Amino acid sequence: MPISSPSNAEDDQAAGLRRIGGSNPVQVIAVTSGKGGVGKTNISVNLAVAMARAGRAVMLLDADLGLANVDVLLGLQAHANLSHVLDGSHSLEEIIVSGPSGINIVPASSGVKRMANLTSYEQAGLIRAFSELRHPLDTLVVDTAAGVSDSVMAFTRAAQEVVIVVCDEPTSITDAYALIKVLNRDFGANRCHVLANMAQDESEGRALYRKLARVCERFLDVTLHFMGTIPYDPALRKAVQRQTAVVEALPGSPSAKAFKTLAHTVANWPAPQGTRGHLEFFVERLVGPIQENRGYLA
Ligand SMILES: Nc1ncnc2c1ncn2[C@@H]1O[C@H](COP(=O)(O)OP(=O)(O)OP(=O)(O)O)[C@@H](O)[C@H]1O
Ligand SMILES: [Mg+2]
Repeated sequence: MPISSPSNAEDDQAAGLRRIGGSNPVQVIAVTSGKGGVGKTNISVNLAVAMARAGRAVMLLDADLGLANVDVLLGLQAHANLSHVLDGSHSLEEIIVSGPSGINIVPASSGVKRMANLTSYEQAGLIRAFSELRHPLDTLVVDTAAGVSDSVMAFTRAAQEVVIVVCDEPTSITDAYALIKVLNRDFGANRCHVLANMAQDESEGRALYRKLARVCERFLDVTLHFMGTIPYDPALRKAVQRQTAVVEALPGSPSAKAFKTLAHTVANWPAPQGTRGHLEFFVERLVGPIQENRGYLA
């Protein structure tokens, strides 16, 4: 299936958007967490859709390889998935499906045990396969599984921006700390973003961030940045039941507004500054000239 262009929602056109073309560096964002069920997949989908609605060319990779659910969440029929890329029967481009607001989705398999235990060679093969996509692409959002498995680490390390999702549960914070510790001590990551989900309000979100940042900055050589708060929102659950993205189905809801703010935040992150010396998504595009300003949402 051909890779489609992003749709341009009218309300976001006013923001004066600028498309980024073919060989520019691609912003790659891994959405991960220590504990499962904190909202990674919903956040990945809605962030991707919100950015597409703001005029950005967005791809969403379902990197929860053994228990895929991006396609289920959006009610999409994927005829093939990453397991078919690994067995050589399909190219990466052939498995891509179009999602809401024109995002391109790379679906994973569900219940294929082998996919949950890929070798490092296979993980590297998948990450490298993205470099062969020649379509204009501004942002790749990577929805990972929870925890510290080898494949979560491989996909997370291969992204320039790491978003750790937390919610107000003691295990969410302790597991986030454990994840950041592994990323820092074993893989040299020294910064990440923290996104609070299912919070009552912004101040609860900030408090969660502070709790985590205090302990990380005390015991690890890592800097945490507060990315924002997504409120607990029954509208998001309603959208899930309808198998739609809340930013599209219920754009006036509190969570949809928060996702829109988040899309602005992410769009204004500085461009990646070259390669970091290990396996990364779209590494060839990082080697080229660095764009001076990616902030297309003034
Ligand atoms: N902001 C929110 N408000 C209300 N419900 C939410 C919110 N975010 C997520 N949820 C609900 O929380 C549940 C878990 O969400 P999701 O599947 O996105 O989590 P996950 O971190 O991807 O889980 P896993 O670790 O299993 O992949 C879902 O039922 C979803 O509807
Ligand atoms: Mg998930």
